[in-house]
Amino acid sequence: MKKVGILISGRGSNMESLLLSMRERDFPCDAKVVISNIETASGLEKAKKLNVKTEVINHKDSKTREEHDEKMIEVLKKEGVEIVCLAGYMRLLSPLFVREFKNKILNIHPALLPAFPGLDVQKKAVESGVRFSGCTVHLVDELCDHGPILLQSVVPVFPDDDSDKLAKRILKFEHKTYPLALKLFAEEKFEIEGNRALLKVDNSEYEEIVKKLMWNGE
Ligand code: GRF
Repeated sequence: MKKVGILISGRGSNMESLLLSMRERDFPCDAKVVISNIETASGLEKAKKLNVKTEVINHKDSKTREEHDEKMIEVLKKEGVEIVCLAGYMRLLSPLFVREFKNKILNIHPALLPAFPGLDVQKKAVESGVRFSGCTVHLVDELCDHGPILLQSVVPVFPDDDSDKLAKRILKFEHKTYPLALKLFAEEKFEIEGNRALLKVDNSEYEEIVKKLMWNGE
């Protein structure tokens, strides 16, 4: 079992989907702690309801990003955390943090990276006229929304979409994509080669993965 820590800043719906998956049999991870930088994040209640330890580490109590990150590292290390999942954690991590958990930090982004990094990306996707968008689970490196891609899901962008409608459609797939990426990662099914994560499964297994993540008219 790999020990997992989750960082959040808000409602924590991705965190919840990760925690629920970790309760399933055969899921190779154990949730040790959820840390929020925002005291009022509603995700904290969701974690408590699922009996997962929570901590608030308010970034405003630290003078620098490094100082804040060091406090988080301390908690994560104390819990023996081996994999860190960012789930709507709305702050950039310092190089210090990224180096401490090198190639062990996962993030979910609501667009098909490398398209649309940054914020408000569902709106950017609608406004750009792309026909498809989706979500990306990737490893975190020192750049924003950058690092080896683990899994992606694709959803259509409808002619009458606004950013809310598209965000909802993508979010449903985030909740499937993130747990599956974490499972495969914990099972050491990815081999990292530079900025690529090679998925070490055969074609029939890969087909199964793709099927699970395929938009199906919902
Ligand atoms: C999600 O859309 C995620 O992709 C992005 O921030 C949002 C967080 O939502 N990084 P939630 O807190 O997981 O509900």
